[in-house]
Amino acid sequence: MKQHIVAGNWKMHTNKSEASDLVMGIHDGVESRALPKSLDIVVCPPFVWIEHIISSLNGGVASQGASSSLIACGAQDCHHELKGAYTGDISAPMIADLGCRYVIVGHSERRQYHGETNERIAHKVVAACEAGLRPIVCVGETAEERAAGRTADVVGRQIDAILAGAGSAAMNESVVAYEPLWAIGTGVAASPEQAQEVHAMIRTRLNQHGAPATALLYGGSVNASNAASFFACPDVDGALVGGASLAADTFLSIIDAACAAWSE
Ligand code: PGA
Repeated sequence: MKQHIVAGNWKMHTNKSEASDLVMGIHDGVESRALPKSLDIVVCPPFVWIEHIISSLNGGVASQGASSSLIACGAQDCHHELKGAYTGDISAPMIADLGCRYVIVGHSERRQYHGETNERIAHKVVAACEAGLRPIVCVGETAEERAAGRTADVVGRQIDAILAGAGSAAMNESVVAYEPLWAIGTGVAASPEQAQEVHAMIRTRLNQHGAPATALLYGGSVNASNAASFFACPDVDGALVGGASLAADTFLSIIDAACAAWSE
């Protein structure tokens, strides 16, 4: 069965009570909808709220292993080593231990502000898979690269480097999020045609390298009004949503668009 995913990346937003209200608002909305079996709903809160969020989703009970709640929880990053002397860092096994099922790796904000390279991101993909987490691997080009006609080259190289470092088996278990940098947090999303073109290129590359099962998400200013147009694209399997995932009603509208696109 082809997998579809709507994931919310809360970034460094929410305090503890806002995080609780947000996840319970999403939970109550999801509970009253008939979700297609292929559709996973994921929230990626800041690290410090993860345990609280998972126990809220489980009716107040801390998770033992991967939480089986209606909504999956993911982290926004993990360290590339499984353990060690890395003050302040969080390992993939720690995230899995809390009951998370997903982890975002290589988000452009991590690449930009923390100097993360494709090689380092590939290492994180391996660590996440070893810990039993599903990585959501982010790729995307800058506005300058797009203007220079280099989008396919830049994104293709990112995919190739991560495939080479992580291996096709790990990539086959992963999710790739195509997030053009110029569309993140700007209110200017890619057009569905632009997203489809890049997704088709990524799909071909992953197919050629033995990773045909990888779900492909579009990210960058996805909102309640444009989500359906992305979900209508043949190679878009879902969305990674930033700003519009911070209000339950807008995130639920995006989930509604996914339900309409992929109802059984
Ligand atoms: P945005 O962020 O939806 O606010 O553009 C997306 C992301 O950074 O994952």
